[in-house]
Amino acid sequence: MKLHRILPFARQLFSETVIAGETVVDATMGNGNDTFFLAELVGEKGHVFAFDIQQEALDSTAERLGELNERVSLILDSHANVEKYVDGRIGCAVFNLGYLPHSEDFSIVTKADSTIKAIHTLLGLLKKGGIIAISVYDGHEGGVEERDALLQYVKSLHQADVHVVRYEMINQRNNPPFLIALEKMKDFTSVKQVD
Ligand SMILES: C[S@@+](CC[C@H](N)C(=O)[O-])C[C@H]1O[C@@H](n2cnc3c(N)ncnc32)[C@H](O)[C@@H]1O
Repeated sequence: MKLHRILPFARQLFSETVIAGETVVDATMGNGNDTFFLAELVGEKGHVFAFDIQQEALDSTAERLGELNERVSLILDSHANVEKYVDGRIGCAVFNLGYLPHSEDFSIVTKADSTIKAIHTLLGLLKKGGIIAISVYDGHEGGVEERDALLQYVKSLHQADVHVVRYEMINQRNNPPFLIALEKMKDFTSVKQVD
C-alpha cells in the first residue's frame, strides 16, 4: 500500500526527520503507542517527553515501554505546560486528539485551548525542518469545536515560517480521522500569525 493511513504516514514523516539522540515530544501519551515508536526512533542517547492528564495513561505506557522507560519522561500534566519540562530543541512532536482508547471514562478529551497552546509552544522549540503531526478525531462530544479552532489556528501560521498540510482519506465513511502536519521552515522561537 502506497497511500498510507494517517498514523503510518505520520510515522514515516518522523522517521525521515528525527535523528538518533534528539529530544522529541508525545503530547498525548494515551496507551503509549506513539511514545514507544518515538523511544525506538531516538535511540539510546535520545529522549522522549510524554504527557497525559490521566494516571491510567502513564501506567499503561510504562508497562508498554518496558526497558525503553529509561529513554522516556512520563509526565502527569497537561501538554499546555510543556515549557515547564522541555527546553532546548526538539526534533518532532505528536498529538493524537480525543479520548483514551479502552478507558472507562470517555469524557476526558483533549480541548482546543490547551491543544493550541501546546502546539504554539512546541513550534517555538522545534528544530528547523522538524515536524509536528496532529491526528484529529472529531466524532466525540466537543471534537468538532476543537477541530475547527485548531484548523483556524494552523491556517493563521505564516506560510514562510511553517508549512501546513492536511492529509485524509476522503472516500471513507464513519467520520475518519485526518492528519495535520506542520513543518518548521525557519529557525524562529516566537511564532508569527497572520489574520
Ligand atoms: C487519543 S488518546 C492518545 C492515544 C495515544 N497516542 C496512544 O498511542 O494510545 C488522547 C490522550 O490525550 C490525553 N489528554 C487529554 N487532554 C490532555 C492534555 N491537556 N494534556 C495531555 N494529554 C491530554 C487523554 O487523557 C488521552 O489519553
